Amino acid sequence: MTRSVVLGCGSYLPSRILTNADLARKVDTSDEWIVQRTGIRERRIAAPSERTSDLALAAARAALADGQVDPQSIDLIVLATSTPDNTFPATAVSVQAGLGITHGAAFDLQAVCSGFIFALAAADGFLKNGGFKRALVIGAETFSRIIDWSDRATCVLFGDGAGAVVLEAVPQNGTGTDRGILTAHLRSDGRYRDKLFVDGGPSSTGTTGHLRMEGREVFKYAVAMITDVIVDAFAATGYTAADVDWFVPHQANKRIIEGSAQKLGIAPEKIVITVDKHGNTSAASIPLALSVAVKDGRIKSGDLILLEAMGGGFTWGAILMRW
Ligand code: UT7
Repeated sequence: MTRSVVLGCGSYLPSRILTNADLARKVDTSDEWIVQRTGIRERRIAAPSERTSDLALAAARAALADGQVDPQSIDLIVLATSTPDNTFPATAVSVQAGLGITHGAAFDLQAVCSGFIFALAAADGFLKNGGFKRALVIGAETFSRIIDWSDRATCVLFGDGAGAVVLEAVPQNGTGTDRGILTAHLRSDGRYRDKLFVDGGPSSTGTTGHLRMEGREVFKYAVAMITDVIVDAFAATGYTAADVDWFVPHQANKRIIEGSAQKLGIAPEKIVITVDKHGNTSAASIPLALSVAVKDGRIKSGDLILLEAMGGGFTWGAILMRW
């Protein structure tokens, strides 16, 4: 059977660092509160001239270089973002043009913080169907543009960044020892759409709007939703928490990540955590974390990797893959 195998992985972070101390000078908060409640110490903020497509293009180039992949061999680009350059066209076509690609297809996908999981699963489906051979899957965000910087409950949580992977359709044996995406599980439940949303948009207010969140409510559901969908991924493959080499979760809150790992029985030393340095970069957080753990030598070819995310919608999902 065909599996979607990772050829390369890369990321891009804007150079400006915003620390908790910087934020404490703007709103009524403290480094102690932010670290204790979230694990976040600093986040990156895009320069005024930097758009989501600029971050995405830099991450895409890094992933292509990492895999020694010729951009002209890419025939599909799926970009997960909730902060596109424009309402349309898709930010993905700017990346496509930036790479000088004029064949194949490029489109955006929006599932907020679960966006990268949804985009990986979508690309996996396209590659398995045989219509495409090599895909760039990107998560890129400039959440700094939709943050209400006077709201201490949300402005301390988010950051900007981008990450990308290159996937290739490769014939495999069809067993759990295959490389590539082994199983993907996606969920959503729109009853919770007003727990985490942006209060603007083209067909409602005609404005971009700002992020609004009932943080405590999101927190309440997060661990149960995350662990449920991971249990589905284990059931589909026969693997268990003990088989996982690296747990690379969406980076929203260290307490949610550690709570989920503990409930599932995943050892703390197997968790890749970047929320301290990046904050919550929504759809970009998983490929950013993957990129960090590949670069520092933790993630190696053949490792069993567990990805999960949960966010606005609510949307949530998990993927088990062999690197
Ligand atoms: O990626 C998408 C998914 N999003 C998430 O996963 C976010 C989920 N939620 C969370 O991570 C947490 O709920 C937060 C980090 C947002 C908040 O942590 P919490 O422990 O749930 O705090 P809380 O909202 O219950 O607020 C506790 C107190 C409140 O004061 P009172 O009412 O107890 O007097 C808040 O006003 O902390 C106050 N507070 C702050 N204090 C200092 C809220 N934000 C801040 C702040 N600095 N930045």
